Amino acid sequence: MNKNKKEIIKQTVPVLKEHGETITTYFYQNMFKAHPELLNMFNQTNQKVGNQPKALANTVLKAAEHIDHLEVLTPAVIGIGHKHRALNVKPEHYPIVGENLLIAIKEVLGEAATPEIMDAWEEYYGELASVFIDVEEDMYEESAWEGFQEFKVTKKEQLSDDIVRFTVENKNLPLDYRAGQYITVKVKPEHYPNEALRHYSICSADTSNGLQFAVKREGAGDTRGVVSNYMHDEVGEMDTIQISAPAGDFTVDQGHEKILFVAGGVGATPIMAMAEEAAVNNVDAALLYSALDESHQPFKEEMEALKNNMDVHVKLTHPDGFLVHDDFKDYLDREVYICGSMHFMDAMINILKDSGFEESNIHYEPFGPKMSLAG
Ligand code: HEM
Repeated sequence: MNKNKKEIIKQTVPVLKEHGETITTYFYQNMFKAHPELLNMFNQTNQKVGNQPKALANTVLKAAEHIDHLEVLTPAVIGIGHKHRALNVKPEHYPIVGENLLIAIKEVLGEAATPEIMDAWEEYYGELASVFIDVEEDMYEESAWEGFQEFKVTKKEQLSDDIVRFTVENKNLPLDYRAGQYITVKVKPEHYPNEALRHYSICSADTSNGLQFAVKREGAGDTRGVVSNYMHDEVGEMDTIQISAPAGDFTVDQGHEKILFVAGGVGATPIMAMAEEAAVNNVDAALLYSALDESHQPFKEEMEALKNNMDVHVKLTHPDGFLVHDDFKDYLDREVYICGSMHFMDAMINILKDSGFEESNIHYEPFGPKMSLAG
């Protein structure tokens, strides 16, 4: 892309960002109208709650600030690419998103949308899409299996008031995966108009009896989670569900020798698998876990078992209070892996930084969009 076009993009980004909300609204409305089949792919509960839908369009705008070196985005693109691959986003989907994004941009710029400006945006989107398509091509090649495949539920266990664990099996598929990764389920609840896809972390490093993942019942009323409630109420042992291959880049760096795992609530799911893997590999590790109270505490037995290999400290908000600086004081020299809600992670990252942990030693996975592109 030539210098002139790059300048046009840079000049229009501030005004487009200012109207980011309008762009997002137009973008999704137009796209779903023209391509209703995509309703099967995008999370409609998130559309209602309103957080994740902004991620896609906002990321395109934010990434534009790095137009002079799109390659700096590659690490962030990898995390998003894993999600795309897990959802089965394919190269042929990119022009659909591009076309509808351009319509939304044109709408927002109104008369200011000259052919030069629109031409520059079209070219820029094409370049950004290529970065994603290239990264995702490798992921499709490395994927343990293709698309969504049928798995039989062999076990369903209530782990806490609102968390259920599923063990699933398909004897014909390789269950290779890295601790910390997630699988993606595709279901079609009877009274729901579309198929729905959701990511759930694999919660045990042991795959000898199949893959284990845990699902928390989400939301209430209008924002009741379609899939989590369906999984809790409708899917039982011996049922089959469609699952796409493990994905995700929140995994332990094999070079890390001293590790602290920190998890809150259902954030324990990937962390349990990672901690079990560390135990098997004799890594010097510790686990700090925080849950609301005993009835909301999953993996009680598994955490007890981990005590044979590492310090495990469970703190219940009622009655013990939230994790505080003092809880971290013995672990300052460790690499930290954190998982929990956005709120939990913000709080933990602040405490860790305050306590003297190096920022580069803190690795995290929020349950929600990680809008890490360009901050
Ligand atoms: C999720 C960016 C293209 C489908 C996301 C997320 C980002 C993003 C930042 C959130 C990731 C997270 O949860 O951490 C982009 C960018 C694109 C692009 C910058 C173009 C350059 C596409 C295409 C499709 C697609 C072509 C398929 C039509 C999705 C879906 C999600 C997602 C279904 C999950 C969000 C939900 O279900 O609400 N994308 N994306 N994306 N993307 Fe993309």
